[in-house]
Amino acid sequence: MFPTPTRPLIAPSLLAADFSRLREEVAAIERAGADWLHLDVMDGHFVPNITFGPLVVKALRPYTKMPMDAHLMIAPADPYIAAFAEAGADHISVHPEAGPHLHRTLQLIRSLGKKAGVVLNPATPIDAVVNVLDLTDLIMVMTVNPGFGGQAFLSSQLPKIAALRRLIDESGRDIILQIDGGITPKTAPSVLQAGATCLIAGTAVFGAPDYAAAITAIRESAPPSLPQLSTSLGG
Ligand code: DX5
Ligand code: ZN
Repeated sequence: MFPTPTRPLIAPSLLAADFSRLREEVAAIERAGADWLHLDVMDGHFVPNITFGPLVVKALRPYTKMPMDAHLMIAPADPYIAAFAEAGADHISVHPEAGPHLHRTLQLIRSLGKKAGVVLNPATPIDAVVNVLDLTDLIMVMTVNPGFGGQAFLSSQLPKIAALRRLIDESGRDIILQIDGGITPKTAPSVLQAGATCLIAGTAVFGAPDYAAAITAIRESAPPSLPQLSTSLGG
């Protein structure tokens, strides 16, 4: 479980970084005020793209204090979870479609001392997570189809985000509600209004000339009068 954040957490996605300078890119977003480092792991099988595995997570681990937020877009995921844990990932999130036993997968992640997350594709209903809330530290809503950065935000997911906010609040659990895909200062207000507590952004941070300004623009995009900022986010 996480303490309730007092302001939206911003997790830049390394997918949009300059891959020839990963160490410098990680340092730059940390200096710029990023809260978490989001790591998109793709296998060319679960999603139609390939990125990196535990070796890259391990290589970057000594160079940042930010929690490493691993988003596994691989199937099966279970055989690789220990490797990501050993590499230094702090949060390990999986898609329910990546294996037959989501409950067991979350148990495995927790047993390794890591925060466990469930990622919902645009077509995946919230039912996929309802019966495993006791093992869930993070729920991530995809607002694009997973596999690539720079895609257009799917506003069709907003009712799902709001429904998950209600589900989390009713459960009384400190579960982080993350949104991944197409987040910009223009789209962020709608997901914050719907109850998100962590925004993942690739292109909108790494594609900007000034990372600090980009992170601040996303974090502060919601008007302070938002009910979610005065209640769920405690600010
Ligand atoms: C997509 C990834 C996202 C991606 C987001 O499969 O999970 O984390 O990097 O990139 P943007 O912010 O460019 O949509
Ligand atoms: Zn991601």
